[in-house]
Amino acid sequence: MKQLHFLISSFSSFLFFLLVNTTTHPRDIEALKELKQSIDLKSITPGSCLSSWDFSVDPCDHIFSDHFTCGIRCDYSHAGLSRVTEIGLDSAGYSGSLTNITLLFPYLHTLDLSDNSLSGSLPETISNLIRLRRLSLSKNAFSDSIPTSIGSLPYLEELYLDDNQLSGSIPSSLNKLSHIKDIQIQQNKLSGELPFLGSLKNVCSLDVSDNNISSISTNPYSLPISLISFLMRNNNIKGGLPRHFLHMEYLEVLDLSYNELTGAITWEILEHPSLQQISLSHNRFSAIKWLSGSKKRGKELIAVDLSYNEINGLLPKFLADLPKLSALSLEHNRFTGMIPSGYAHKVATASFQRLLLGGNYLFGPIPGPLKSMKPGSANVSLVDNCLYTCPGTFFFCQGGQQKSLIQCKNLRPKVP
Ligand SMILES: *[C@@H]1O[C@H](CO)[C@@H](O)[C@H](O)[C@H]1NC(C)=O
Ligand SMILES: *[C@@H]1O[C@H](CO)[C@@H](O)[C@H](O)[C@H]1NC(C)=O
Ligand SMILES: *[C@@H]1O[C@H](CO)[C@@H](O)[C@H](O)[C@H]1NC(C)=O
Repeated sequence: MKQLHFLISSFSSFLFFLLVNTTTHPRDIEALKELKQSIDLKSITPGSCLSSWDFSVDPCDHIFSDHFTCGIRCDYSHAGLSRVTEIGLDSAGYSGSLTNITLLFPYLHTLDLSDNSLSGSLPETISNLIRLRRLSLSKNAFSDSIPTSIGSLPYLEELYLDDNQLSGSIPSSLNKLSHIKDIQIQQNKLSGELPFLGSLKNVCSLDVSDNNISSISTNPYSLPISLISFLMRNNNIKGGLPRHFLHMEYLEVLDLSYNELTGAITWEILEHPSLQQISLSHNRFSAIKWLSGSKKRGKELIAVDLSYNEINGLLPKFLADLPKLSALSLEHNRFTGMIPSGYAHKVATASFQRLLLGGNYLFGPIPGPLKSMKPGSANVSLVDNCLYTCPGTFFFCQGGQQKSLIQCKNLRPKVP
C-alpha cells in the first residue's frame, strides 16, 4: 500500500514536472546564441555538444528532445523562467574567439570551456558573470593579459587559466577574489611581479609554475597565509630564498625549482612546522645554513629536493634527524666530506625510500649499512663522486663512474 502510494505520488510529481513551464529566460537564450556564434562553425563537429544546440527548441526544455543534449544546465528560477546555471562544453576541438562576447549570464555559476582551441584575448565582460563560482578555460590558446575585471567576480572559488598563452603581469585585482580557493595559472607567459595577494583568506592552492615571473612582492605578507600548496616552478625569480613561507602555518607543498635563486637555504624553512614537500632544485643556492644547537626540526617534512644547485660544504647531518623524511635528493651540488652514518642508517632501515647523492665530491668509505642493501629496496645513488671505491656490485654505484682523481683533487670544494 505504501509502495503504491509512493508510485502515485512520484507519478504525479512527474506529471507536474511535465506541465511546469520550463521556458528559458530570453536573455539567456540570446547569450547562448552569441556564445555559439563566436565559435568557428567549422570546428563544431557532428556529435559535439555545440552541434546539438539547435535554437528551434527552448534550450532548457531539452529533456525529451534531441536538442541541447549536453553542455548546459538550467535551474528553475522564479517567474516561471529557467536560467542557465552551468555551461560545460566537451573538448571537441572548438576554435574561435570570445574577445567581443557579452557573456550576459547573470545566473551562471560554472563556465568550463577547457581543453579546446579557443584563442584571442579573454573578454573584459567576464565580470558580467556575477554569480560565477568556477571558471575553467584551461588548455586553450587564449592570449594577451588576464583582464583586470576578473577581480570583480565576488563568488569565484576556482580559477583555472592554466596552459594558455596569457602574457603580461598578473592583475593585482585577483586580491579582491575573497572566496577564491584554487588559482591555477601555470603554463602561460605571465611576467613581472607576483602581486600582493595577502588579502585572500580562503585560497589553498596557488600554481604559477612555467611562466616568466621575475619577483614576488617584497611585503612578507603578500602571499595568502591560508596556502597549503604554492607552486612556482620554472619562473625567473632571483635573489635569496623568499621568506614569505615562514609564517604560513598550513603550507604543505612548496616548489620553487627551476628559478634563479641564490645564497643560502636557511634553517627556518627546514624547521617549518607543517611543510611536507619542498623542492628548491635547479637554482643556484650555494649553502645550507643550519643554526647549530637548534633542536627544532621540520617535523612534517617527507620529501626534500635540493638537487642541481651549487651547494658547498658537508652533507647536513641534521637531515637524517627529520622524523618523517623519506625522500632526500642532494644530487649535483658541491657537497664534500663523508656520507653521514645517519643517512646510511635511515636507508638501511627503510625510513628513506630515496637517497640521491650523485654528482658531488663525497669521499671516504661506503657506510656499512648500505653495503648489505638489496637492489630495489630503495632508490639510492652515489655515482659521480670521489668515493675511493664504489664497485658496480652495489646497485647504488651503477649507472655512472666516480670522478677522476684529478677532478677530485682540483675541483673538490673547500670545507667552509
Ligand atoms: C572585436 O571588436 C573589435 C572592435 O570592434 C574588432 O576590432 C575586433 O576585430 C573584434 N575581434 C574579434 C575577434 O572579433
Ligand atoms: C622573461 O622576462 C625577462 C624580464 O624579466 C625578459 O628579459 C625575458 O626575455 C623573458 N623571457 C621570456 C622567455 O619571455
Ligand atoms: C630514482 O628517483 C629519481 C628521481 O625521482 C628517478 O629519476 C629515478 O628513475 C629513480 N630510480 C629508480 C631506480 O627508481
